[in-house]
Amino acid sequence: DAHVEIDAAHHLRIGGCDAVELVNSYGTPLIVYDENVIRRTIRAFHNVFRQADVPYQISYASKAFCTLAMCQLVYDEGCGIDVVSGGELHTALTAGVPAKAIHMHGNNKTVDELRYALESEIGAIIVDNFYELSLLDELTREYGREIDVLIRVAPGVEAHTHDFIATGRQDSKFGFDLASGQAQMALRQLTDLPFLRCVGVHAHIGSQIFDIEGFQLMIERLAEVYQYGLLQLGLPFQVLNVGGGFGIQYTDEDAPPTTETLAAVIKAVKTAFGSRNMQIPTIWIEPGRSIAGPAGVTLYRVGSQKQIPGVRNYLAIDGGMTDNPRLALYGAKYHAIYANRADAAPEATWSIAGKCCESGDMLIWDAALPNPQAGDILAVFATGAYTYSMASHYNRIPKPAVVFVRDGSAELVVQRETWADLIRRDVPLPNRA
Ligand code: LLP
Repeated sequence: DAHVEIDAAHHLRIGGCDAVELVNSYGTPLIVYDENVIRRTIRAFHNVFRQADVPYQISYASKAFCTLAMCQLVYDEGCGIDVVSGGELHTALTAGVPAKAIHMHGNNKTVDELRYALESEIGAIIVDNFYELSLLDELTREYGREIDVLIRVAPGVEAHTHDFIATGRQDSKFGFDLASGQAQMALRQLTDLPFLRCVGVHAHIGSQIFDIEGFQLMIERLAEVYQYGLLQLGLPFQVLNVGGGFGIQYTDEDAPPTTETLAAVIKAVKTAFGSRNMQIPTIWIEPGRSIAGPAGVTLYRVGSQKQIPGVRNYLAIDGGMTDNPRLALYGAKYHAIYANRADAAPEATWSIAGKCCESGDMLIWDAALPNPQAGDILAVFATGAYTYSMASHYNRIPKPAVVFVRDGSAELVVQRETWADLIRRDVPLPNRA
């Protein structure tokens, strides 16, 4: 990992901070984000767009990790923010992100969420379905206020990724179906709705994608429907939103992150639009994982062990599926070392287990590690995306603390939850005597 190093005391350093000291100050489990890694990734995206010389907008998919500090940081680096709920919208607005820089997604936005978006005058709503289209029509008439919208298209493209997170294929809960003409029908309706300004089309074909073919096929199909909306229907199109999905490196099995996919995506847009003699649209991307994922390292204290002769070694840590459900949900793979003796050679395989009362609560199967010693701190890499944001209170386990580190200094950005926090909203039964 480029942003981590091992110091003379054999300790892991993240963003110039000693991981052991971080744990001593903030406790475990602790999620540590290296700010510079986030900034570098975003700047690399900006550079690819600038070199390609196309109009663009990077909209951080905040579902990957949505807190006040994260919204502030990515906005500071010139990103807009993508939200998919009232809660994410509230976070972005409270972080001081201007409403115009916020876009809202979701396949079942509630009336309250749509009102919140309209009252805040956010930049755009990505309309997912006919139900939402008529709701928005009603609400915008009530407010007498215009809003920019894009329609989400289900382009019938399946990305080469885990089945549960492939969202672009035809049989999906997301978006207007293209093959059966529903997307085109939605666009025809939009020519008639007085307060909805349809500025473009959107698709998202999945996550953790390395292959470019899926993007190319999606862009070809989007260009087709874009042409229909712009030229046949005269809609005020200017935006082609190609979603997120850029893959990152979790283990040696994955390719390192690269900006080549983005460059190829831009090229595909140029080709698809050039061959139709259409002006290159403003290209929006919505990366989540690629911005937040590589920057995060989770630190745990090791605890109990169980060695089953000839079967497997289990090593339990003081977290698990409550702070990182990705193995349990997707069979995700991670790389780990001990932060307090970061260059110690592996001695055996140890399967890293969480502390929840179920067998599926695992973080890593068969990790090559030194045999554990009391006081070891396990560092799990590339845990910045879809971990804290998917954390739960299962078994009434409090959520971890989060710190941002940069150039040797650390800042707490999310406080560790306490047991008291967990029961704060419980209402005991009244005395029924
Ligand atoms: N745009 C839309 C409309 C999306 O649905 C998503 C992710 C993104 C952008 C961002 O995609 P990314 O760049 O992060 O790949 N919880 C799963 C991932 C779910 C992704 C959902 N949508 C996981 O942990 O792998």
